[in-house]
Amino acid sequence: MNRRELLKYGALGLASSYGLSRLPAFAQSPFPQPRTLEVLRADGVVEAQITARQSNLTLSGKPARLMTYGGFPGPTLRLREGETVRLNFTNNLPEATNLHLHGLHVPPSVDDPLALVQPGESRLYEFTVPKGSAGTYWYHPHVHGRVAPQLYAGLAGLLVVEGPLDALPELKGAEEHLLVLKDWLFSGNRIPAWTHMDWMNGREGNLLTVNAAVRPTLRAQKATLRLRLLNASNARYYRLALENHPLYLIATDGGFLEKPVELPELLLAPGERAEVLVRLSRPGNYRLQALPYDRGAMMMHGGMMGDQGMGMMDHGMMDHGSRGGMGDTGMMGSMMGMGATRLETLLTIVAPASPKPLPLPASLAPVERLEPARATATRRFELGERMMQAEFFINGQMFDPARVDVRAQLGSLEVWELVNKTDMDHPFHLHTYPFQVLSRGGKPAPYRAWKDTVNLRKNEVVRIAVPLRDFSGVTVYHCHIVEHEDRGMMGILQVKG
Ligand code: C2O
Ligand code: CU
Ligand code: CU
Repeated sequence: MNRRELLKYGALGLASSYGLSRLPAFAQSPFPQPRTLEVLRADGVVEAQITARQSNLTLSGKPARLMTYGGFPGPTLRLREGETVRLNFTNNLPEATNLHLHGLHVPPSVDDPLALVQPGESRLYEFTVPKGSAGTYWYHPHVHGRVAPQLYAGLAGLLVVEGPLDALPELKGAEEHLLVLKDWLFSGNRIPAWTHMDWMNGREGNLLTVNAAVRPTLRAQKATLRLRLLNASNARYYRLALENHPLYLIATDGGFLEKPVELPELLLAPGERAEVLVRLSRPGNYRLQALPYDRGAMMMHGGMMGDQGMGMMDHGMMDHGSRGGMGDTGMMGSMMGMGATRLETLLTIVAPASPKPLPLPASLAPVERLEPARATATRRFELGERMMQAEFFINGQMFDPARVDVRAQLGSLEVWELVNKTDMDHPFHLHTYPFQVLSRGGKPAPYRAWKDTVNLRKNEVVRIAVPLRDFSGVTVYHCHIVEHEDRGMMGILQVKG
């Protein structure tokens, strides 16, 4: 953002302290591309450096004090299938953190969700990019109890794996863009402390951004776009639609589908990624919108969500060890059960003058058919909560790093039955082992796809097939509303060879 724009926004007064509706119609910036991480590449080996540090950024004209991997989004790590990667991570933050390679099928001893990198220290992540893993992944911290504050502060970046299929003319000829969706909440130039409500619902901010820009404008050069989408929000869901134009889903968390799937809209829960083709068949503007979605979060009446309300609600819950409840604040009476979002425009795409979109690819990559009948174990995972205490459970227990919740055999196929016993959506995420959704609410999945995060609607049952392949070790599964993860909704899976 240049100086003139900065003054313009500055004069409007801290837009992000208010609802987005207060943002004027001209609050549009050009579409910013996340930068690509520079790497050293020789003989199939890639060396790269990622550093976490405190950063001053400008968001919607406001200075913001954040924690990032050198800007938000962090630099995109672009890798190729089969490469050996030596990724050095340095922590220049004043607190412990680490780097999680979300969705990548690498050994849990490398991508260890429980290992910490202390301030001033480094850790080397050395792994091979699996064959057939071309797709969109991301990296972010995984310090239990601090994931919500660290992710919210801007510690997230994309990890893109390229493979032979990217050479398909219908994909190669498309204009590719990376879209990191994230919301923010500021008080002055700082991110306010977490309130009890935040820990209950997962924090949502009122400033919605794509690559840290509010409602940017993307001037397309080509008539076919390939959008790689990431929901990097702590808790916000994006029900994405392009007004009256379809989205053509070509890839989910774990890579390509067998063929494009035409969708009128696409729900992206926290942690999920999707790749879509957009065909601009006539000139003009195409608005990417987030449609209203009710995930069952609790809301406060009236002005309670404002800055003062936030202050009043601060019960010092930054310390996740404290088990404070709502206390005697009398807030209970002012809570409602509905937290539906309203329609927001995220991005405006301007089509080229006489657009001629490419044909859709007839087929993409074969997606292995897993045989649930061959599963050697069927497990049930029940998601529960004690909402007023902001305590979250899987099978009745809060996370304990010293407890193994599930012991499984390397090489086996398992069926997991994920049962949401709460009145709120939860995105269930499993590390290390990509899975496929078999059914949702008893209905078979409409197409085969590799996933690592799947949304569970309130009171819904989702069955997934989990092949426990290639790597033994200790890994985790958890809710990707990261406040819930911090507040107990996580378990340990141990796979033995
Ligand atoms: Cu993106 Cu364990 O998470
Ligand atoms: Cu993960
Ligand atoms: Cu949750």
